[in-house]
Amino acid sequence: MVASARALTSRLPAAPLSGRITVPGDKSISHRALMFGALAIGETRITGLLEGEDVLRTAAAMRALGAEVAHDADGTWRVAGRGVGGLTEPADVLDMGNSGTAARLLCGILASHDLFAVMTGDGSLRQRPMRRVIDPLTTCGARFLAREGGRLPLAVRGAREALPLEYRVPVPSAQVKSAVLLCGLNAPGITRVEEPEATRDHSENMLRHFGANVHVEAEGDGRVIALQGQPELLAADVVVPGDPSSAAFPLAAALVVPGSRVTILNVGLNPLRTGLLATLAEMGADIVVENRRVEGGEPVGDLVVAHGALRAVEVPPARAPSMIDEYPILAVIAAGAEGVTRMRGLKELRVKESDRLSATAAMLDANGVRVAIEGDDLIVHGAHNGVAGGATVATHMDHRIAMSALVLGLAARAPVAVDDAAFIDTSFPGFVALMDGLGAGLAA
Ligand code: S3P
Repeated sequence: MVASARALTSRLPAAPLSGRITVPGDKSISHRALMFGALAIGETRITGLLEGEDVLRTAAAMRALGAEVAHDADGTWRVAGRGVGGLTEPADVLDMGNSGTAARLLCGILASHDLFAVMTGDGSLRQRPMRRVIDPLTTCGARFLAREGGRLPLAVRGAREALPLEYRVPVPSAQVKSAVLLCGLNAPGITRVEEPEATRDHSENMLRHFGANVHVEAEGDGRVIALQGQPELLAADVVVPGDPSSAAFPLAAALVVPGSRVTILNVGLNPLRTGLLATLAEMGADIVVENRRVEGGEPVGDLVVAHGALRAVEVPPARAPSMIDEYPILAVIAAGAEGVTRMRGLKELRVKESDRLSATAAMLDANGVRVAIEGDDLIVHGAHNGVAGGATVATHMDHRIAMSALVLGLAARAPVAVDDAAFIDTSFPGFVALMDGLGAGLAA
């Protein structure tokens, strides 16, 4: 459970940030490893799993559905799966906490299991739209009942004999794509998902890794994914790389605190996740990728980051899917860059853990940065003489707003506080200690 509200303040550190760190495991891959492990025959061993609140909710849900999930002293997680279609009715409500990924992917699994389940979440998750998964999943024969606006809590009566799905995802969303694929796993025939813009492909990669037959074809900027239903998934070991979306925070801190130099080891570099690195390269950031390699089927590398002057850029809407979780921290970086940064096509940010478009603008505005929202675009005016700071930021139960605000304070003239840092534990347990190890002094 996320603890009670924890205020925290950050300020300019006495010395530049420096050190070599690793960040916790990738959140997207961690959820999927537990889920696919639960749907496979045999024992899946997972190393590097993110032990954040969100992923622990998925582990608990898989247990509640009949999989055995164990955690060894050396940090390895073991999942003894039930096979495709083999999960059993949970005895109680499934509480997915703060996690949209856990909730939406789980809807996909439940829809094609012959069982009844009820799902809820925290105050943030209960505000988030679930119709985007309910609509396609209903076509397999599952029945959903949800609150007004398709919000949690919801109840699902899974299909006794699910039909395969054909779906064109209307918004770029890896969660919706993955929910449809997970449902299609227990339907005979081919499930086909079309996405107009390519989104993170961890589900497709992992399906293959567990032995499913998945065919992916490029179509314009998007992809068509075809999954042969009812495969026998076989347990497979998963090595989870460091989460690039978590690495973004110490990386940004190194970019904005004068004189800093930080190495972040073992960061996932799946090309559908590296939009922030592409944008920062255009801004002139000093980031070198060393040791590029493939581990556990995903590209990884070490990032060496040094502070330096940055220039503003225009970030095109087409880049949004590959950096969707990185806009708040990019906005913080842009606040210290030379010129006006325009981030375009951010509609999906409105339905994250908070309305991140508004929350990001409010965070900057409160701290003296000139910022505007025009339609779905976020415009940040780089402050020539640095960010003023001095305000308390409302985090709205959103881990990424909390971490972004704390990084903002590291380069501001006056300290920046957050009203609640507790939600950082959903994705980045140990964030404060890790940042303090670099010299950030957050706990001071
Ligand atoms: C995720 C997909 C993205 C992202 C989220 C994780 C996933 O959400 O924001 O943090 O693991 O599939 P959407 O699919 O809603 O864009």
